[in-house]
Amino acid sequence: MTLSGKTVTVGVTGGIAAYKACELVSLLKKAGADVHVVMTEHAARFVAPLSFEALSGNRAVTDMFDSDHDWEIGHISLAKKSDLFVVAPCTANLAGKLACGIADDFLSTTLMATKAPILLAPAMNTGMLTSKAYTANAETLKKRGVLFIESDSGYLACGDVGKGRMAEPKAIFERVQSILCAKSDYKNKTVLITSGGTREPIDPVRFICNRSSGKMGAAIAECAARRGANVIYVCSSDAVKPQTDAEIITVETTAQMADAVIGNCERADIVIKAAAPADYSPQTVEKNKIKKQSFSLSFKKNPDIAAQIGKIKGDRKLVIFSAETENLEENARCKLKNKNADMVVANNVLQEGAGFSVDTNIATLITDSKVLRLGKMKKSELAEIILDEISDLK
Ligand SMILES: Cc1cc2nc3c(=O)[nH]c(=O)nc-3n(C[C@H](O)[C@H](O)[C@H](O)COP(=O)(O)O)c2cc1C
Repeated sequence: MTLSGKTVTVGVTGGIAAYKACELVSLLKKAGADVHVVMTEHAARFVAPLSFEALSGNRAVTDMFDSDHDWEIGHISLAKKSDLFVVAPCTANLAGKLACGIADDFLSTTLMATKAPILLAPAMNTGMLTSKAYTANAETLKKRGVLFIESDSGYLACGDVGKGRMAEPKAIFERVQSILCAKSDYKNKTVLITSGGTREPIDPVRFICNRSSGKMGAAIAECAARRGANVIYVCSSDAVKPQTDAEIITVETTAQMADAVIGNCERADIVIKAAAPADYSPQTVEKNKIKKQSFSLSFKKNPDIAAQIGKIKGDRKLVIFSAETENLEENARCKLKNKNADMVVANNVLQEGAGFSVDTNIATLITDSKVLRLGKMKKSELAEIILDEISDLK
């Protein structure tokens, strides 16, 4: 995917991962983008601006009051001409400044001035990443539409092991590509996506749940938002949340999910049921913790959310997921018909790379008139294809 004709500004802040920004700049440049690098004063203590100048072919700006650059008022000019700002690595300090509106150097000033999308790749010690201050700042920024590429877990420069490593340059580059090359075919559409596995309480301590992580739902939500959709994300509390602006409705049980989906269905043009709501719940929920003793549970059937939406959907499109372990296409076809769905995304969860919690999937998309058997791919790639196919539905 070429980035020729696109201007990308890479902000580099003062963390050990600053050296990895060199690879990101190189990838962007090789893809044809016009790349500009803006470094904080502290970033320049980690990597010399000259490295970025050699890789980008443009001057790396570090000083707000340096008159020796090509633009009339540098920060405003760069803010206007950039198609995207990516800050990699993004320190806790920069996220805090951006959340609070502090513009005290070239990078923070330009970020405040720009109307272009901003993608932050945070990198910091786990303690900083999980601090209340950073968490609140990141939430504020997400609500304003600032995009994030999550930090990875692993060995950190400070010697700790945990979350906080900057995402790999290649992953950041791919995210930049998907933002800049995104279609806008979902503009003015509202997409309601369900995600994660519901929990059915047994007593105040225990519950029954399933292995659904919410990764597929989050990937679809992110992709739909990139393509212009308003996203309503109905999910279980522990489901992966999309790294994008979305209205998030958290539920616990299947009954609550049914209420949330039916209650918000009116507002949606498309309903995508990527969640794995429990089919059954205990007949009774004990008021007190069941003591260590042998006990048996009897179950009652939960509402079938897909079937209920199928009955009331009107002109809306209904896409359902079908996790199978045998007779994949046959079972999926039955669901398509019985639930009055427009498309079924079926996968055999026993296949390697298609199960729960992994980042890949192997799916077959089934509509009334088409069967699309797909190979193993990232959930983000599958999300694009699902949305392409929904766009094509009559
Ligand atoms: C060796 C070293 C490594 C650092 N790594 C990080 C880091 O990964 N993330 C972070 O948020 N701050 C890190 N800091 C602290 C920042 O450099 C510091 O908060 C600074 O004020 C950030 O300035 P800037 O955001 O303007 O670049 C590090 C500091 C040192 C000395």
